[in-house]
Amino acid sequence: MNLLDAVDIPSLTIIKYPDPRLRMPGETVTQFDERLHALIEKMFELMYKGNGVGLAAQQVGLPLRLFVANPTLADDDERVYVNPELIELSGTAEAEEGCLSLPNLSVSIKRAAVVTIRAMDAEGNVFEETGEDLLARIFQHETDHTEGRLIADRMSPIAKIANRRLLKELEETFASS
Ligand code: NI
Repeated sequence: MNLLDAVDIPSLTIIKYPDPRLRMPGETVTQFDERLHALIEKMFELMYKGNGVGLAAQQVGLPLRLFVANPTLADDDERVYVNPELIELSGTAEAEEGCLSLPNLSVSIKRAAVVTIRAMDAEGNVFEETGEDLLARIFQHETDHTEGRLIADRMSPIAKIANRRLLKELEETFASS
């Protein structure tokens, strides 16, 4: 049975750290149907509302290997990555990164500078794409989400100390909700 059959897609919202659903490794998507398309549409809506450039299924509470992105926020730049795999990484680049599930957190993270991803589109067609700069960063950040990893796990020890208070506030907000 399709996991999405039991989900009320219109009522999905972006969940926040430390919600344990952000830690769920994604299942491989096998059905490329209307429900999947409705989920993708909803994820774009939530991503734009949050002023983000990428959003993974875990961030709406679903354990699926899926993310959406729009690195330029242009109408014709919407991208969908189903069952993503990073197949080639090279170079290193360090830049500030944020996450809609960790509001107000901005940390410098070292990532590969150029990344080739293999994924499927919303119809299940396999494609490969090489990205650099922001796009390479999105590939890595969002694929991390689909495996249950967050930028909080990738922070340097110094960044962890600097952001301890912010993380604690998010933990307290979650505990009292
Ligand atoms: Ni994120």
